[in-house]
Amino acid sequence: MAHKKLFIPGPTEVAPEILAAMGVPMVGHRDKPFIELYTRVRPKLQQALYTKGRVFLSTSSASGVMEGAIRNCVGKRVLACVSGAFSERWYEIALANGKGADPYAVEWGQANAPEEVDRRLATGKYDAVTWVHNETSTGVMGDFSGMSRVMQKYPDVLFLVDTVSSMMGVKLEIDLLKPDVCLAGVQKAFSLPPGLTVFTVSARALERAKTVPHRGSYFDFVKFSEFDDKGQTPETPSISHIHALDKQMDRILAEGLETRWTRHLEMARLCRTWARERHALFAAPGSESVTLTTVKNIRNLDVGKLIKSLSDKHDVTLGNGYGKLKDKTFRIAHMGETSLQELRTLLGWIDDITNLK
Ligand SMILES: Cc1ncc(COP(=O)(O)O)c(C=O)c1O
Repeated sequence: MAHKKLFIPGPTEVAPEILAAMGVPMVGHRDKPFIELYTRVRPKLQQALYTKGRVFLSTSSASGVMEGAIRNCVGKRVLACVSGAFSERWYEIALANGKGADPYAVEWGQANAPEEVDRRLATGKYDAVTWVHNETSTGVMGDFSGMSRVMQKYPDVLFLVDTVSSMMGVKLEIDLLKPDVCLAGVQKAFSLPPGLTVFTVSARALERAKTVPHRGSYFDFVKFSEFDDKGQTPETPSISHIHALDKQMDRILAEGLETRWTRHLEMARLCRTWARERHALFAAPGSESVTLTTVKNIRNLDVGKLIKSLSDKHDVTLGNGYGKLKDKTFRIAHMGETSLQELRTLLGWIDDITNLK
């Protein structure tokens, strides 16, 4: 079957040599070769995330670690910032785990306002906040620095951040921004096959976790830190994924971090300009995502047909709008392995199909 190049917001394209790295023969996960692998990958992640703190690996998709963050970090009540499907999911996970939670919801296409978070935290009701940096459902990227400034005013409130579709596409200076948990599945801007999640955990989140009863077992962050001390994961990890991550981090660092962040910005600017000239942007001005563009379908295009034509003629896949935005928007991902030239070519193909220039 012909491979259809992925321009959907995850999973993204994986380089052939990275796929090949997954075929390395197995070793025992408590044995020296694995410990060497783990301790080789860890500093690369710390470098790319600008942190000296803990970076853990979970053999799960990102939602598993979202649940883990809730179970480990919420003792009292959580304020869930909701601006789309994935931030809504975090609210639902909190309720599903029996935690008290209140949504602070804004209209899809908008970003949660740090000052509104501040106002709600001032009530003293909460000991954690959930937030999605880059809402993949709407193409909105929130203000991480602004949120971080507010969170610093509340040292007893933990800041739980989903960077699923921004980590490795955008500069995330963890030690400066100080999220207590910051997580990402590797199937987005890391450009790796799905099934592994990278996450940072702060010292105060670990201290909190120790005091929270019934924080679960598979995602017990305290257990993660104990095994991390030994260069291991608590349970048997997807060793193949960690080999691929090791190699992909080499590629990312070889590209150069600043070069990588600039490449992503350039792709975002190209796509936004293109979309503004021919269609419209769904994200509120100033909140447009750097890693994907959600195009508002103001011309009443048949989005399904557009996606099918792209697939049939050019062997590429594009993302339809998410959930209630299906057919009202379409999403173009520009993250991970994608180059400016590939994006430019894709946009030209869309113009050809839609007869717009
Ligand atoms: C922002 C965001 N958060 C969470 C998730 C859920 O990730 P996973 O499917 O890896 O559990 C996604 C998936 O697309 C996402 O885009």
